[in-house]
Amino acid sequence: MPLALITGASRGIGAATARALADTHTLLLGGRDEAALAALAAELPDARPWPVELTDHAALAAAAAELSTLDVLVHSAGVARVGPLAAASADLWRSTYEINVVAVAELTRLLLPALRAARGRVVLVNSGAGKSANPGWGPYAASKFALTAYADVLRGEEEAAGIRVTSVFPGRTDTDMQRVVRADEGGDYEPAKYLRPESVAESIRTAVFAADDAHLTELVIRSRPVR
Ligand SMILES: NC(=O)c1ccc[n+]([C@@H]2O[C@H](COP(=O)([O-])OP(=O)(O)OC[C@H]3O[C@@H](n4cnc5c(N)ncnc54)[C@H](OP(=O)(O)O)[C@@H]3O)[C@@H](O)[C@H]2O)c1
Repeated sequence: MPLALITGASRGIGAATARALADTHTLLLGGRDEAALAALAAELPDARPWPVELTDHAALAAAAAELSTLDVLVHSAGVARVGPLAAASADLWRSTYEINVVAVAELTRLLLPALRAARGRVVLVNSGAGKSANPGWGPYAASKFALTAYADVLRGEEEAAGIRVTSVFPGRTDTDMQRVVRADEGGDYEPAKYLRPESVAESIRTAVFAADDAHLTELVIRSRPVR
């Protein structure tokens, strides 16, 4: 089976993506929570934990060096805090960029030879905040705009090597991250109004299974009121 590495697979959209690809791919489950990764791996037919702290670039390089070929790389790991720019410290800017942008760029760079070898697919989980930057979303929206730019450059540079790059832009999704966001916003948590992580994972699966002659560059997903 083709090999897929999913970051942020211990929870939320990443875990749902692992479940969505479990029947068709051998899975490496990225994340830090080793118990959660082990529990998910035990549930799936062909998956193993890939526990790496994404800000530890030496650990990342060591883990990536084990992969000589990689068919699918899904970047789902991310962090989000909401609040006014007046309260956004340099530390918040740095920590947001460190996970949402720098780790994505560094992990992809380390895995480019493996991705080229497989003519692989890279899926970057972006956000509605990467399409429109609204008050309160400063560091997060900026990091996701940066992620769009990164994806566009990567696509342009690596398409000739057979690599396809898809940015996926979900709206609010029912995960731990959204609970943090709603707490920051001081609003109720209303999961019925949000996307299910499984629905976002289904779109990621669509990107992974795009026909050979198709390059799905962007998928934008909004929730609609059905529940
Ligand atoms: N939820 C939403 O409403 C929403 C909407 C649009 C876009 N998104 C995007 O979707 C992606 C997934 O979000 P989610 O809602 O699934 O988030 P989540 O439930 O909070 O999960 C975040 C994941 O990122 C991993 N992670 C965070 N920091 C890490 C680090 N330093 N090293 C390694 N792994 C790290 C976590 O691993 P551990 O728990 O193991 O540490 C966890 O698996 C993110 O890129 C987010 O920006 C989310």
